[in-house]
Amino acid sequence: MTLADDSLMRAVCLLSGTGTNLQVILENIATGNIPISLNAVISDNPMAKGIEKADTSGITTKVIDYKLYDEQSIYHDQLKQSVLIENPDLIILAGYMRILSDDFCETFRGKIINIHPSLLPAYKGLNTHQRALEAKETHHGTSVHFVIPELDGGPIVIQYRIKIHSSDTADTLKKRVQEGEYQIYSKALKWFALDQLKMKNDKVMFHGDHLDKPILIEEN
Ligand code: GAR
Repeated sequence: MTLADDSLMRAVCLLSGTGTNLQVILENIATGNIPISLNAVISDNPMAKGIEKADTSGITTKVIDYKLYDEQSIYHDQLKQSVLIENPDLIILAGYMRILSDDFCETFRGKIINIHPSLLPAYKGLNTHQRALEAKETHHGTSVHFVIPELDGGPIVIQYRIKIHSSDTADTLKKRVQEGEYQIYSKALKWFALDQLKMKNDKVMFHGDHLDKPILIEEN
């Protein structure tokens, strides 16, 4: 099976790890729920399980091993060139754990979408589940947002919110948050593919109107 189709919006996915979000995205592409052509999956990590998942689906994969580059700028340039070759309309970050260069963010401005495991703007960066627990938050969740040079700072499209229970650990939070990620990322990517979702002047446009606040989905 190949998921490349010239009649559809062209997409590239960047990831670093397990690729469970990618797996769900692939299933949604295969059923036509997300009408995009996924032309390449690129990882900075040669051990990423997500690369195996993409290979199994017959998608072009590429590893640009971050650790092999003494000069960060050369890594970032390689990444940019590898993405540019695909001429994408959409770049899907699915657990890509490196900070993108400002140049990359500007080159593909409005085309990069990320999922981050917190209710942004809270808990940008790493270890979000543990940090939310330690701060004794009552709620936690995940956010889909457009990417701008400011880390995890781009306009937010949709969030999934869960209540934190006294029995929760970082692992249980991760599991519950990821269940929500599979739902909201597929929705957002579908909207983008159907031209219903855009970023304009650093604001989210949804069905042609400014989205004043992120769409919120609550865990059942
Ligand atoms: C996801 O939970 C995603 O939100 C997070 O990495 C995980 C990847 O899981 N992304 C970030 O933390 C980005 N800052 P997966 O590889 O199983 O899809």
